[in-house]
Amino acid sequence: MSRLRRALLTGALTVLPVATVLLPAVPAHASDTLRAHAEARGKFIGTAVATSPLANESAYRTIAASEFNQITAENAMKWDATEPSQNQFTFSGADQIMAFAEANDQQVHGHTLVWHSQTPSWVQNLGADAMRSAMQNHIARVAGRYASNPVLKSWDVVNEVFEENGSMRNSFWYQKLGDSYIADAFRYARAADPDAELCINDYNVEGINAKSTAMYNLVRTLKAQGVPIDCVGLQSHLAIQYGFPGQVQENIQRFADLGVNVRITEIDIRMQMPRDATKDATQATYYTNMVKACLAVTRCTGITIWGFTDKYSWVPDTFSGQGAALIYDENYGRKPAYTAVHDALAGGTTPDDTTPPSTPGKPAASAVTATGATLTWTASTDNRAVTGYDVYRGATKLGSSATNSVTLTGLTPETAYTVHVVARDAAGNTSANSESTTFTTTAGSGTGCTPAYRVVNSWPGGFQGEVKITCAGPVTSWRVTLTYPESVRITQNWSSTLSSLGTAFTFSNAAWNGSVPAGGSTTFGFIASWTGTGAPPAPVIS
Ligand code: G3I
Repeated sequence: MSRLRRALLTGALTVLPVATVLLPAVPAHASDTLRAHAEARGKFIGTAVATSPLANESAYRTIAASEFNQITAENAMKWDATEPSQNQFTFSGADQIMAFAEANDQQVHGHTLVWHSQTPSWVQNLGADAMRSAMQNHIARVAGRYASNPVLKSWDVVNEVFEENGSMRNSFWYQKLGDSYIADAFRYARAADPDAELCINDYNVEGINAKSTAMYNLVRTLKAQGVPIDCVGLQSHLAIQYGFPGQVQENIQRFADLGVNVRITEIDIRMQMPRDATKDATQATYYTNMVKACLAVTRCTGITIWGFTDKYSWVPDTFSGQGAALIYDENYGRKPAYTAVHDALAGGTTPDDTTPPSTPGKPAASAVTATGATLTWTASTDNRAVTGYDVYRGATKLGSSATNSVTLTGLTPETAYTVHVVARDAAGNTSANSESTTFTTTAGSGTGCTPAYRVVNSWPGGFQGEVKITCAGPVTSWRVTLTYPESVRITQNWSSTLSSLGTAFTFSNAAWNGSVPAGGSTTFGFIASWTGTGAPPAPVIS
């Protein structure tokens, strides 16, 4: 019986929201949400959701509800969550996600019925026949639970069944049951929920390669055998350092030509941390390309992002030193990637955004050295999103940042810098110049010289310090400034001339040790009194 017919018969149609809007009543406006634009294009835009922030954080709920018309449980519908012990089913997390979707007029993609990961060991230890029965029972109970609910639109029936070279993954499923478990899983799923769209899902299958071609061949074979497969999921866990996959649109199209739908199921685009404006821009381009590739193919039904805020992402836990893969930052601020997804769904860059960001605050300089300084300012606001800032000295750009702080490098020693900041948005609008600030770089230690500081000895109330200066090229003079906390006073020094200004102590060469040959070094020392306890404080060296 069709879902519509079943709903009419049960009277459920009047109370259950219809989640898929194919024909919009009104066109979306440029400033609309992601879901408004997606609905206007007949597509879904979705996010994976985690049960804990969904229950506990209103900012998380607000964005999940307002920006997305589709959600996927990040973990709550997996086998270890739904059937941790044989025939003991727990649906609290899955039901929580379904209720959220119903309340917010969203469709749910079920993830996932049969996978080699996050499947309890009791399943893995079964013999072949018992394993097949357990799979059938699991699918019947989990997919069957939501079969009468039109909010549940689709299922990942099998997940990640291929190795990278395109051979079948040598999982416990394959070892016990051979590749027949795949067709069986689809047949069991169709029996459990006749109306759900049934998908095969995998990663590294976005472009045309050996793995995606193996997937293509499998789908073609399953279709030819009459196996009920409706859809292919391209996970799309990308990384900017590995480049954008080749022929994504062509790949989507070839699956569509087999008569199945395609969806981007888990997109995130990670980067080596820390973020910067350049990496953000590359990431935004990748998001644009993926969304546009899907929009270009009629049978590509939509895009699910694997979470939306960098506050909750699997990436840093799995890839050390990588992150920032999503479209909102940890504080729920929209990133350039948000604008990219938005504008791609809206059909290009937004023509009517002529509003510039507000003027950034006056920058404050800190950690000023001979060749660098850190500037921090009050952030701008924008009607859409601030995408970055540029720092200028007159007309010369000294640096850029995605955030309201930048560390300038490559400055000239003993030079006054008067700088201002300009904010920009994705449409290219720029703010007025901030108020200027002036800082002066310190003298430094001589061209190519590196100071190495150490505490030689310490005692209650004082310590002896030493600096060894090693120079790459020859110099005839040198200077080093040590800046300590208030509690330190230098009472005696040797092999140097000392001048002090507040807590900054500048040591210049003595008459006899200014000349240091290339590769040579010279050392000076001092005694300091100090009112603290524990280890003597480390100075800022410049
Ligand atoms: O719930 C426990 C918690 O009780 C415990 O204290 C904590 C300690 O590590 O672990 C928690 O479980 C974690 C679970 O996520 C929920 O946060 C697991 O360790 C962790 O392994 C699990 O990771 C999930 C991963 O799948 C498992 O393989 C990620 O959140 C989830 O984003 C990720 O999603 C997969 C898709 O399902 C399939 N495609 C790839 C994608 C990314 O790996």
